[in-house]
Amino acid sequence: MASDTQTEFPAHIAIVMDGNGRWAQQRSRPRTMGHQAGQKALRRVVEHCGRIGVRELTVFAFSSENWNRPEKEVSRLMDLFMRALDREANELHQNGVAIRFIGDLSKFSPELQEKIQAVLARTPQDCRLRLNVAANYGGRWDITNAARALGAEIKAGALDPTDIDEALFESQLATSPGSCPDLLIRTGGETRISNFLLWQAAYSELYFSPVLWPDFGPAEIDAAISAYAARERRFGAIHESAQQKAG
Ligand code: IPE
Ligand code: IPE
Ligand code: MG
Repeated sequence: MASDTQTEFPAHIAIVMDGNGRWAQQRSRPRTMGHQAGQKALRRVVEHCGRIGVRELTVFAFSSENWNRPEKEVSRLMDLFMRALDREANELHQNGVAIRFIGDLSKFSPELQEKIQAVLARTPQDCRLRLNVAANYGGRWDITNAARALGAEIKAGALDPTDIDEALFESQLATSPGSCPDLLIRTGGETRISNFLLWQAAYSELYFSPVLWPDFGPAEIDAAISAYAARERRFGAIHESAQQKAG
């Protein structure tokens, strides 16, 4: 997962798509309406990212903690996922978008799991844009899962603990193979990670937007990319000009 000090353009953008419920509440509509509008926003954003040359987009669709919502909201969300897969997957594939899911899919209904597997089976190998949909995803789950996988290899005698380094650990994460996000956007005004890509976001540039997710679109993505281009990524080092001064 090589990172680049070049901040002109982010190859990988991650998004916490937040604010659907408030968007609906502002219109005195049920929260589900906000989730529906949120799906339309995702479509706009995926199309735009593909157009401008983003290579990888990772979106937080449902967190491992979102099961704590009222059962009715969760089941409506699951319905919406099913319908979105039916409606969008083929067209996305035809447009060179390869869909991948990251998260513990085993908690979903057998029907939804089947649909997900069918989409994965049709995912093109060559793609313009890789779309990672984080569903029942949690950063702590991801890290715990990786540790468990390495533990099993050690137990089987296939791995020596001293051989575990960051690259090997990272290879066990749900995002592997893939890059770490250059830019992590959270919409909806909250300024927290909410258990998204805890390992992978170690050096992501963070961008918080007050815009609620259903209102997010190309202009907001462009604004986030402009803000990113003005950043200086140092990865713990110091900038060249400061280096000269330090002598
Ligand atoms: C994000 O929007 C969608 C999911 C978490 C599934 P929210 O539903 O969290 O919307 P707000 O934050 O309540 O407005
Ligand atoms: C994060 O949003 C999860 C998704 C966008 C899928 P939440 O709305 O669940 O996060 P909190 O509860 O505000 O931290
Ligand atoms: Mg929220």
